[in-house]
Amino acid sequence: LFASVEMTPGDPILGLTEAFVADTRPGKVNLGVGIYYDEQGRIPLLRAVQQVEQKLAQEAKPRGYIPIDGLPAYNLTTQKLVFGEDSPLLAAGRVATSQTVGGSGALRIGADLLKKVLPNAKIAISSPSWENHRVVFSSAGFDVVDYAYYDAATHGLDFPGMLADLGKLEPGTVVLLHACCHNPTGVDLNAEQWQQVVDLVKERGLLPFIDMAYQGFDEGIDADATAVRLFAASGIDAFVVANSYSKSFSLYGERVGALSVVGKTRDEALRVQSLVKRTIRSNYSSPATHGGLLVSTVLGSAELKAMWEQELGEMRERIHAMRAGMVEKLAAAGAPHFGFIQQQAGMFSYSGLSKAQVDRLREEYAIYAIGTGRICVAALNRANLDTVVNAVAAVSR
Ligand code: LMR
Repeated sequence: LFASVEMTPGDPILGLTEAFVADTRPGKVNLGVGIYYDEQGRIPLLRAVQQVEQKLAQEAKPRGYIPIDGLPAYNLTTQKLVFGEDSPLLAAGRVATSQTVGGSGALRIGADLLKKVLPNAKIAISSPSWENHRVVFSSAGFDVVDYAYYDAATHGLDFPGMLADLGKLEPGTVVLLHACCHNPTGVDLNAEQWQQVVDLVKERGLLPFIDMAYQGFDEGIDADATAVRLFAASGIDAFVVANSYSKSFSLYGERVGALSVVGKTRDEALRVQSLVKRTIRSNYSSPATHGGLLVSTVLGSAELKAMWEQELGEMRERIHAMRAGMVEKLAAAGAPHFGFIQQQAGMFSYSGLSKAQVDRLREEYAIYAIGTGRICVAALNRANLDTVVNAVAAVSR
């Protein structure tokens, strides 16, 4: 039966981790996957999460199914984090939020939902975008097109190109936007640029689909949600937000994310929610309990939430320090042209390294990065920084 099945190429990000794990060289460094590691090179288990975990273990509650669209407390606390405590959209009941299996689950459920509502629409994603965006949306049946975003010459944003491309899209096209900490480039829009995008998207009748996987990793919870808040304030009838707690709660394997669909009225949001539930049921039936309980318990307690925000702030500051340290050390090692790494935001930097240079990093120095040159600066620490800097300087000569 399966004789004709050919070997499918490995995933460019998670497949690289498989190769990293199999590598037996001491001192290997994984700058491939987007995971935050602490100064000791470990994935942190956040203090607030540990507290809730202990409480849950003591309570030893039974594990029945949770609702198709997830834990109500999780959806409520998520809405407040994404749209803001005082959001008029929330007060008006215009947001339909569902707990999903990670941010990827939110993207896929959102894609399946939109395919039902807008069967002929295309989706436009940034050039470049997270590798999996194209795969998720094309698997859901979308035609995926690109809009200009990254300017390789400046290592920054091609904002005129972005506006020009968005301005040419057919009305009704879905536009995938990264709220902050753009993956893979680390290049973000500022608030004024966001406002221009919001105005254009609204005027052109496009449907924004915002992916917010790194809220809190650049400037803070509210500042990093600027795009969502500006769309909310714009009076636009409908937009979609996928968010993830993988990084901000360091709960990668718990698969905690959410899909929020904004409708024109409360009644519209209720009807959309019913269709989202049908879509989830036909994909994976209902989400998992544990991660959802961890997140909603932390977000539902003022004390635990403050503890979490503090730790998130520490992660953010450590990333900023690693960016600064990398740039400084690279300059000292004779590679002064990497100053742009300090202007980029979040976990990633599009380093400008070529595929051949990335191959050399892996083969000669056991340093793993994505073939596009994307590196995860959140995996750097004081112990591996010199190794990475010296290797990057060597392959850049
Ligand atoms: C990444 O881009 O490395 C992360 O978002 C992990 C993933 O699923 O690709």
